[in-house]
Amino acid sequence: MAFKSILAILALSAVLQSVEGAITRRIACPDGNIASNAACCPLFAIRDDIQENLFDGGECGEEVHESLRLTFHDAIGIGSRGGGGADGSIITFETQELTYHANNGLDEIIDRQKPFIAKHNITAGDFIQFAGAVGVSNCPGAPRLDFFLGRPTAAAAAPDLTVPEPFDTVDNILARFADAGGFSPEEVVALLASHTIVASDHVDPTLEGVPFDSTPSTFDTQFFVETQLRGTLFPGTGGNQGEVESPLAGEMRLQSDSELARDSRTACEWQSFVNNQAKLQSAFKAAMRKMTILGHNISQLTDCSELIPTPKALTKIATFPAGLTNADVEQACASTPFPSLSTDPGPVTSVAPV
Ligand code: HEM
Ligand SMILES: *[C@@H]1O[C@H](CO)[C@@H](O)[C@H](O)[C@H]1NC(C)=O
Ligand SMILES: *[C@@H]1O[C@H](CO)[C@@H](O)[C@H](O)[C@H]1NC(C)=O
Repeated sequence: MAFKSILAILALSAVLQSVEGAITRRIACPDGNIASNAACCPLFAIRDDIQENLFDGGECGEEVHESLRLTFHDAIGIGSRGGGGADGSIITFETQELTYHANNGLDEIIDRQKPFIAKHNITAGDFIQFAGAVGVSNCPGAPRLDFFLGRPTAAAAAPDLTVPEPFDTVDNILARFADAGGFSPEEVVALLASHTIVASDHVDPTLEGVPFDSTPSTFDTQFFVETQLRGTLFPGTGGNQGEVESPLAGEMRLQSDSELARDSRTACEWQSFVNNQAKLQSAFKAAMRKMTILGHNISQLTDCSELIPTPKALTKIATFPAGLTNADVEQACASTPFPSLSTDPGPVTSVAPV
């Protein structure tokens, strides 16, 4: 009996210890939220504010697309030319960095983001990446991105020519990503999954809100399907630098995406994303984790990923747009045939502007 009580007491203290262990890893924030680290506490209010007042109540719209593009243009500013990576320099030193050709159009989202940075106690570098991760969570099918906190204010502007242009060669694009952060060709392809949520305003100056795939509000694999189809038309005028023909009225194709889809170094990886939502999510998440902390030592940042909402799942499988079939695929991967997909029913449609 005494022995049994001792056993019971030992078992109870083990339970208490594990409860206590769990409690010490949860912090009650001043606003009543629960966080794993006190440093993450201010992010709850920032998240709620931007969901409501920057992303129109949690939509996957223009501000989300532009915020994701901004995460890239800030982070890639690093490498042999100089630059501090994901440090917010694109906002802190906007008067310089916005004169760079590749940053055309980013003034709009920077003007939208600046009041939130001024209102909350957060650096521009942290805010850019936090807004990107929260924003992407509004897009059905997206992975739940990580977010690390703790980027100091940038000390200097990034130099010009760190951001790849759509008219750059595949050689130069792959070399730039390798120089910026040791990205492999596979990681470059994974990052370009971002082009599944695009509405271009600046490649063709006569058009606004032109998608790169037929589903610009969902984080799906249609971008990888449609970039492999034979280009037949321009959505607006021809002759824009960095633009090539697309397969669908209303859809835009970048020269860089077209060439990466057809280059022997990247074509099979490109095709591997077709109808593979699980790979799209895991590869994009991993590559984004690497890109968003460029210039920083991860062990000196705080993991606040728990603040990022879980995106809605997507069940639709990839298809060929109405009127197009496997015969329209420009097969570029030599080792694996293009996945067989069904064709959307109905007459040939065009992609509506966003
Ligand atoms: C080879 C590398 C890349 C090139 C050449 C490139 C080029 C472009 C261009 C020309 C646009 C259209 C901008 C406009 O007309 O408004 C665009 C849009 C966009 N890019 Fe990229 N990009 C690249 C990589 C990336 C990466 C790595 C990301 C993010 C991880 C990204 C995210 C976006 C997003 C979200 C948009 C849509 C912006 C909007 O709808 O306003 N891009 N990109
Ligand atoms: C702002 O954030 C910094 C770093 O996270 C912190 O040290 C500081 O106390 C904060 N200031 C206010 C006014 O909350
Ligand atoms: C990263 O930070 C950790 C902890 O502060 C340190 O031990 C490590 O040397 C740093 N790594 C680099 C590459 O600076």
